Amino acid sequence: MAGRLQGKVAVVTGGASGIGAATARIFAREGAKVVVSDLQDAAGNAVAAEIGGIYMHHDVTQDKDWKNVMEQTRARFGRLDVLMNNAGIFAGGSIEEVSLELWNRVLAVNLTGVMLGCQHAVAAMKENPGGPKGSIVNVSSITGFIGLANGAAYTASKGGVRLLTKSVAVHCARNYRTIRCNSLHPGAIDTPMNQAAFDASGDPEGMRAFFSGVQPIGRMATPEEMGECALFLASDESSFVTGAELLADGGWLAASGPL
Ligand SMILES: NC(=O)c1ccc[n+]([C@@H]2O[C@H](COP(=O)([O-])OP(=O)(O)OC[C@H]3O[C@@H](n4cnc5c(N)ncnc54)[C@H](O)[C@@H]3O)[C@@H](O)[C@H]2O)c1
Repeated sequence: MAGRLQGKVAVVTGGASGIGAATARIFAREGAKVVVSDLQDAAGNAVAAEIGGIYMHHDVTQDKDWKNVMEQTRARFGRLDVLMNNAGIFAGGSIEEVSLELWNRVLAVNLTGVMLGCQHAVAAMKENPGGPKGSIVNVSSITGFIGLANGAAYTASKGGVRLLTKSVAVHCARNYRTIRCNSLHPGAIDTPMNQAAFDASGDPEGMRAFFSGVQPIGRMATPEEMGECALFLASDESSFVTGAELLADGGWLAASGPL
């Protein structure tokens, strides 16, 4: 049976770790040729080698790096079908605590990086052999919907990703019909990003218990569960879905408390 991404070419940013690495593996399992991009060269190369893809060093805040990734992808594989804008950083800090430097850093990676990715992906996808076609999956967060008190910059960046996605989606639908853009909103996922935040809190087990309990499903999700959501948005199975939000939070936002 043909894979759900057979014949497609995908770029996954932040593909060396967590949700990105799991998604790269799932895209490859479904027949895509995958470009893994990240700052972590050893881990990124390992993921790429495991799935028969290629790895590229890529800082998503840098326009020149995006140009390079797109040029190399098209030179090697001839097209771009899927961009998973997944690279991101978490930083705590309420509005009273956040420094301008931290704010700018978080916005640069989590929002400007996604904007540059959309810009370069649309330019590549509209030139695909056979005509414009492609799917962009932007990784936002549950904090694209609700405010995290201890995360002013992170919340702002993820809210920005949610609405930027809609602007891109409407532009592409009107101009190219078959280039789509959607956002994925993970709840609490068991990845190195969260483990680092838990460790920094001084009570990692308490934090893990809290984030498991706050999701009515009663546990944190695996990165693979996010990859399977991304797969639906990346594949032609979601051909009429654009500008949409896929919330994958174990029921967190559906609940108003213990009831
Ligand atoms: N883990 C969660 O609970 C959770 C929840 C909601 C949203 N998210 C989002 O999911 C995405 C993936 O997070 P994760 O939990 O897998 O984290 P992770 O830390 O495991 O992976 C993120 C990857 O992004 C890379 N990266 C960071 N800055 C980069 C840059 N400037 N250029 C290129 N790559 C860069 C890192 O090197 C890392 O490999 C992020 O956008 C994150 O905000 C995660």
